[in-house]
Order: sequence, then structure tokens, then C-alpha cells
Amino acid sequence: MNDRWYSEAVVYCLDIDTYADSNGDGVGDIQGLIGRLDYLARLGVTCLWLHPIHPSPNRDDGYDATDFYNIDPRFGTLGDFAELLHQAANRGIRVIIDLVVNHTSNEHPWFVSARSSPDSPYRDWYVWSDQEPADRFQGMVFPGEQHETWSYDRTAKSWYYHRFYRFQPDLNFSNPAVRAEIKKIISFWLQLGVSGFRIDAAPFIIELTEPGNPNSPKDFEFLTDLRQHVQWRRGDAVLLAEANVEPDQLVAYFGDRGGSGNRLHMLFDFMLNGRLMLALARHDPEPVIDALRDTPALPYGASWATFLRNHDEIDLSRLTAEQRNQVFEKFGPDEEMRIYDRGIRRRFAPMLGNDRRRIELAYALQFSLRGTPVLRYGEEIGMGEDLSLPGRESIRTPMQWSYKQNAGFSTADPEQLVRPVIDSGEFGYETVNVTAQRGDPGSLLSWFERMIRTLREAPEVGKGTCTHIDVVLPPGVLAHRADGSTGTMVFLHNLGPDDATVDLGSLYEEADLPIDVLTDRRYRPVGKLDELQVAGYGYRWIRLCRGDAVS
Ligand code: NOJ
Repeated sequence: MNDRWYSEAVVYCLDIDTYADSNGDGVGDIQGLIGRLDYLARLGVTCLWLHPIHPSPNRDDGYDATDFYNIDPRFGTLGDFAELLHQAANRGIRVIIDLVVNHTSNEHPWFVSARSSPDSPYRDWYVWSDQEPADRFQGMVFPGEQHETWSYDRTAKSWYYHRFYRFQPDLNFSNPAVRAEIKKIISFWLQLGVSGFRIDAAPFIIELTEPGNPNSPKDFEFLTDLRQHVQWRRGDAVLLAEANVEPDQLVAYFGDRGGSGNRLHMLFDFMLNGRLMLALARHDPEPVIDALRDTPALPYGASWATFLRNHDEIDLSRLTAEQRNQVFEKFGPDEEMRIYDRGIRRRFAPMLGNDRRRIELAYALQFSLRGTPVLRYGEEIGMGEDLSLPGRESIRTPMQWSYKQNAGFSTADPEQLVRPVIDSGEFGYETVNVTAQRGDPGSLLSWFERMIRTLREAPEVGKGTCTHIDVVLPPGVLAHRADGSTGTMVFLHNLGPDDATVDLGSLYEEADLPIDVLTDRRYRPVGKLDELQVAGYGYRWIRLCRGDAVS
């Protein structure tokens, strides 16, 4: 039985264009990715989240599509994509894709037609206003790069709405024809065999935009409708959404009908992400404890997706100004490392000073918390960023496979590459690459393989409950537990630099031959749990007992 597969998945996200180039044109492609599936299977990930795969002028890295029913020709064809799904399935790996339907590119034929005439059949597919709306300068998502949310279109002789960049006109979700089309797009990709979607900008696809009203009403029933549609077409498909909203609004996105979620299956946990950053910056578990306490109860079947890095900036907007500054000081001290007044455009390893202990600690902690972990490509080998690239491109450099030219990503001339590889310094490809780490049991990559394997043997982490163990502990140490039908895991993570001794003897009664299953170093055996050593920046994953489901 493997229903709710997503609650015990390990998700790996990647951009096809920077992953592996099979034909030497400088751009990663689907065949290149197929060639790396064995690597991903060995790493242990069970689901790929592919960033946008559609044809696009690429002014927002593919989040500006011109055809939702096709594959960017630089990546290959629909045939290649079907082959990818087949090859991934052969290795037990599912694939979900980005569904970016809040907006299209302004080069999408729908928008080209819509702006050409008020009589165009697509005119009402977008959001227009004859007058300049009073909220023209409100609600920008990219402050500094975006100046307004309504722009005047000379051809249309009207103002159009764009929540994001001006080349991304919003689709009009008040229009039933648009809703029907979105369902058709979903059906198309499900029919090809994807296991679900990462819904881009979920709060905005339910927005019924009214010109002049910066707080336009939201129609959550559209999410209920999408869920039903998806489930009828493919029972095990999943909707994982990006909704970076206030915590008290989150539950509405999961929906709740008689205790069961009836809207989105999963949401990215932005709240936890910010608190994790704060905890790591302060060497203090308190923000994580707060996050666990503040987590709303979820309906049955709903899960969080946890992450440390994704393809965007680390968004600290849910922290207070003071907390944000603390994180900035530690992890983004220079102005060039920051973006949109709220985020950090760096990879994780450099943020932590390339300190292996702290990198392991942070990822061990993320993967041990409730929900499904999402890992961004390159993090498993500790890749760095290139701050000379504009905006969020700093963390979107090609995967570093080997010592070969272009990091083994492509055989093209370096000038032809979709983005330059990082070729110098501590994070240059000659130092940080898969080949170097693959054969080394002490490498970060080998550690990730071990850690993911260990996690997959503990399904209660994703499926069960996650609770802070509220006993007096030395400063810096977090103790939490995961309980489910497969048993109980207990976790110690020391966010501080000093070695500590922890007394969890009160749990001993529940224990059944407790043992360490993942640690940062060799510790004395667990014993009666009353004298557990944990080194500075160390961690111990302890199997307390097995449940009825596993004998
Ligand atoms: C959210 C995506 O994560 C981001 O990369 C993109 O720029 C915006 N949505 C607009 O689609």
C-alpha cells in the first residue's frame, strides 16, 4: 500500500536547462536528465520537481510560458518528456512539474490576440481596466525590479494587470473559459504521466482581481474544484503549492471537509523556512520550537513540504525587522547578497561558511522535521553561488558533475553556456563536483545518500506526528520526536558550538533497544537515554522503537 506517497517522498528540484546538456548546445536538456537518473536514484530521491518546461522567452527563467501544451524546444520534445517519465518510473522516481498559470508571457498567442482588439476571443482571458487603477503601484512581488502591477498597453489602449513582471500579464480567473483551460492543461500532463504539479503563486490564481482594489476577493472554491478534477483524472496525483501567506490563512489552502483536506495536498512551509534560518543564525532552537508550536493542525492527507533552499531568494519577509537583520548579518552581510529588501540570493554552503558540520546539521534538521523534504539540485554536493550574475540567477548555475571543462555539464564552448559554471575559488567545479565526491565515503554527497536512506527507513517522519520534547536541555539543543504506525524516532540537534549532554531518560520506558541510526560522529551507545552526548553542531537520530506496522 503506498497511498499518500507524497508524505514519505524525498523531492529534488531542478532546472532542466542547467542540469545536464546531452547535445552540446550549451543548454541542459531532457536526454541529459535521463542520463542522470541513475545518479538521482542512488541519491535516494523519490520525486523530481521540474521547474517550468514549456516554451518561453525566458525572461523569468521559464515562469513566463508561451505554450502550456509543449516542451521548450531547447529541452527536447514531448517524446523525450514521455521517455523521461518512463525512465524515471523504472527507477521508482515520480515527476511533478511546475504549473505556472497565474500568468502567461506577454508573447503568448492568447495575450497577443487579447491586446490586438477588444473583440478578440481572448480579450477577457486577461484582466483589463480602461482607467488607470488606483492600486497601480501596490502589491509588487519584486520590489526594485518591478514598479507597478498595472501597466498601460498602447496597442490595447487599456491597462492590464500583472502581479509579477510587466511581461507576465495575469490570466483572468473570473472567466470560466480560463478555468476550463487550466483544467485541460492539467489533464494533458496527467495523461502523459506526471504525478502532480507544483502550483506557482497559488494565492494569486484564486484572486478575482478588481481594478483599484488591492485586496481583491479570493475564491478558494477554485482550489476545491482543481483538486476534484485532478483526483478524478489520476487518483494519486498531488498538488503542491507555493502560498507564502500569513500562517493563519494557510489552512484554507488545504481545505477541510469533514476532517479531510479537499484542496491542496501540500504547501511549502515558508514559515518554517524563515524560522530555521533564524535558528541557525542565532544558534538557538527556539524559533523552530515556536514554528512547531504555531503549526496549525492539518486535515487528514495534508502535508508540509520543507526546504532550506529553493530556486528563489531565501524569503525572510515573515520575520520581524530585527530578526531579519540578524539573519542578514550572519548569512547575507554584503548588500550584493540581498535582494528585494527581504531575501538572500545565496546557496546554502557558502552561507554557512562552507562548514561541513553546520551544513550537515542544518540538512539533518530539515529532513527530520514534519513533512516532505525538498532538496535543490547542487545542494547535495555543497555548490556555491555566483554573485556576479543578476538577481536570482546567482543560485541557478550549471550542475557541477566533474573536473571536465564546463564542470562536465556541457561540451559546448564556455561562451555558449546558458549560464557560466562556477570555475574558481572554494566552490569552483574543480573542487566541488559529483565525481570527486562519489567515490569518497566521507564526502557531503555520500552523507546525503546515507541520510536520505536513513530517512526512508523512518516513514513516521513524513507521515506521523512531529513534537518538540519539552524537557530542560542545554542551550542550543533541540529534541523532537516523530511518532507513527511504523514506530518512533527521537532527534537531537545541537545548533550551538559547544558539546552538550542531554537527559532524555524519561523516554526510556517507551524504548525498545534504542539505537543511533544517523550521527555526526561515533557516540557512546544510547544506553538508557539519560546521558546522551551531542557535540557542538552535532546531531543524533535515534530509533526509539518500531511500531506495529513493521516487525
Ligand atoms: C514564483 C516562482 O517561484 C518565481 O521564480 C517566479 O519568478 C514567480 N513565481 C513568477 O512566476
